[in-house]
Amino acid sequence: MMNDLLSKLYLLSPLSRRARVKQYLNKDHTKQLIMPESALNDGIGDTLIENFLTYFRMPVGIVPDITIDDQSFNFTLAVEETSIIAALNATVKTFRDNGRIYSSQGNDYIKGQISYQSSLLNELCLLDHKDQLKKMLMQTYPSYFKRENPIINITKKCTQDFSIYYLEINSGDSMGANLVTQFCESTSRYLTQVENFPKPLMNIVSNSLIKPNIKVCCELEIDQELGRAIELASKFAHQDPMRASTHNKGILNAIDPIVMASGNDWRAINANLHSWAARGSQYSPLSNWEYRDSVLYGEMEIPLQLGIIGGATKIHPDVKFCLNLMGINSKSDLKKVITTAGLLQNFAALKALVSDGIVRGHMKLHLKNIVKAADMKDRSNEEKLMCELEGFLSKNRKVTNSDAQTIISQLNL
Ligand code: MEV
Repeated sequence: MMNDLLSKLYLLSPLSRRARVKQYLNKDHTKQLIMPESALNDGIGDTLIENFLTYFRMPVGIVPDITIDDQSFNFTLAVEETSIIAALNATVKTFRDNGRIYSSQGNDYIKGQISYQSSLLNELCLLDHKDQLKKMLMQTYPSYFKRENPIINITKKCTQDFSIYYLEINSGDSMGANLVTQFCESTSRYLTQVENFPKPLMNIVSNSLIKPNIKVCCELEIDQELGRAIELASKFAHQDPMRASTHNKGILNAIDPIVMASGNDWRAINANLHSWAARGSQYSPLSNWEYRDSVLYGEMEIPLQLGIIGGATKIHPDVKFCLNLMGINSKSDLKKVITTAGLLQNFAALKALVSDGIVRGHMKLHLKNIVKAADMKDRSNEEKLMCELEGFLSKNRKVTNSDAQTIISQLNL
């Protein structure tokens, strides 16, 4: 049963919506949290970046009550694109009524690269020093080795000119990029100082996880015509990389805004997802849809490099608020919420594309922006203008700001 406080939020003003969310947070969560309307101060911005000036304001919205693996979450998205939350909200409702979403997860690991020009290494091989290196790392990073399953795997790969050593660690609840880069730097420094290795070309995390660490599946009872059309749309993306790119953009429409709201590094996630999509012989869609016996089956299995501790997640009050509102208690919660949002957003886009097309839906939402931007004598006529624009849209299939101005002059609004 959906929480009443979060139902039909779109009917309320932002003020009443915030009041409801405050009530919801204070009721359902142990921590009494305030909306971070004015919680940001210069100190936080100045801690996070150099030459801090001010904050860039991005709208933050909520899509309530998504059940994944029998647990209810909310999506909190920081996003400027008008249609995304509306489409996701409608899709979540469809799945709440007629669908099911479930997930499974793999281990969270991250790899760093220590790269040498092969010609400089002579016969030297880092793998000959594995045990010694593990000992040195244990002494240098004792707290890492206190965590559950503190793996350190070291492997090697050669390209034409380079010998690349991969250091793999368990990233735990953090993303792990800084930690693995530190491990790589300490390792190569030790080798240079103690074993006469040359200076490596570079030490850095790899933003490519080559194994996925989260899989989300969904099922939805749906009519045959729509189900088959969505299956075909998925097949099309698998056969054409130009389409696969746009298909994946639709998935990122929900992934990026939640990654941003959760204070994670969205550049790393995008780099990783695109390299994952390009792992085969051609760039491919991140999701797959099939229709069988009145049920549409969707799935997405991807690598997600993120964390719920460290970086902005620790100090940014908006992030704390968003994670709390989503109901995220662990990194695995965040991975399944983000992947589910991507898959459902993809469903919304494919459904629109194979039925009405997306322009109509987008335009309807865009009307609100047109009304807000319109130059009117009397703003109490906004609702009348909205009705006129809706009529204009269904007749002409598009509306522009100047169409709105023409209507305003004709009706003297
Ligand atoms: C627009 O932001 C996203 C879509 O282009 C995604 C898609 O084509 O699947 C509608």
